[in-house]
Amino acid sequence: MIDFQHIIDTIAKEANTAEERGKVASYIPELSKVSAKKFGITLLDADGNSFSAGDSNERFSIQSISKVLALAKAFDLEGDHLWQRVGVEPSGDPFNHLSLLEMENGIPRNPLINAGAIVICDILVSKLNAPKQDFLTFVQQIADDPTITYDEAVAQSEKKTGFKNYAAAYLIKSYGNLTNDVETVLDLYFYMCSLTLSCEQLVKVFYIFMNHGKCLRNQHYLKIYQIKRINAIMLTCGFYDEAGEFAFEVGLPGKSGVGGGIVALLPNEFCVATWSPGLNDKGNSKLGMRALEKLTTKTGLSIF
Ligand code: DON
Repeated sequence: MIDFQHIIDTIAKEANTAEERGKVASYIPELSKVSAKKFGITLLDADGNSFSAGDSNERFSIQSISKVLALAKAFDLEGDHLWQRVGVEPSGDPFNHLSLLEMENGIPRNPLINAGAIVICDILVSKLNAPKQDFLTFVQQIADDPTITYDEAVAQSEKKTGFKNYAAAYLIKSYGNLTNDVETVLDLYFYMCSLTLSCEQLVKVFYIFMNHGKCLRNQHYLKIYQIKRINAIMLTCGFYDEAGEFAFEVGLPGKSGVGGGIVALLPNEFCVATWSPGLNDKGNSKLGMRALEKLTTKTGLSIF
């Protein structure tokens, strides 16, 4: 029997004393207000036992982690037609690059880079009656937590400075791969990225991805084959041009966000979330990656 609490306490202790903590994102001005000293971690096992340490209860901006949730909702609504509008290959590029998008005629490489998530948001805008509210309700339901909310200040901050996302959306539109208008689609995109959750909440949301589509309350939200595909995309595309490094170091499907969060999972076993706002130069949480490397190495638990 693995003593998860002991391992997590050791990891948190090491993280708290680390000197090199990476740089807090500042291109979305509101995110720069967060202290680089924060560190939280929660692991939730398949039986619903949870183990936490550090700032695991403090909410942070999940940013790109939300792209997995948007993909899940859009896949559920649109089925396999989705893959005509977005690919499933890793880009090997930073999350906000535009060069491949132009070369590949407005079909984003995958749903977890910004361009791909913008196409996913276009699908949600077309399919949902009240996109922002309906998407939020979906996230609240899978976590069984009605307190989950958007952060208005973060969403507005990105709306004012998200020029690259406007560029991506207009480029996609020019190739005919965006059916709704750019403002409406990006409004959903910026709000979705502004979702604020703690590590303790995040593992509850992502429980369905390690439990064949069933949430903690045992209700089915996604089909098994859909979970297989989403986990595969997290493994190959969840960390942009560092996806290979994350698979090499950690060996789990997962997703990062520029708010410093990472969520990862081992199907049938556990789901884990870390938060440390300092990022490495690829835009992934420096201490979060290190913590997860330690977790899978110390426990011997990874998909490999
Ligand atoms: O669109 C953006 O740039 C942000 N809202 C999200 C980027 C992000 O989290 C990339 N992840 N590591």
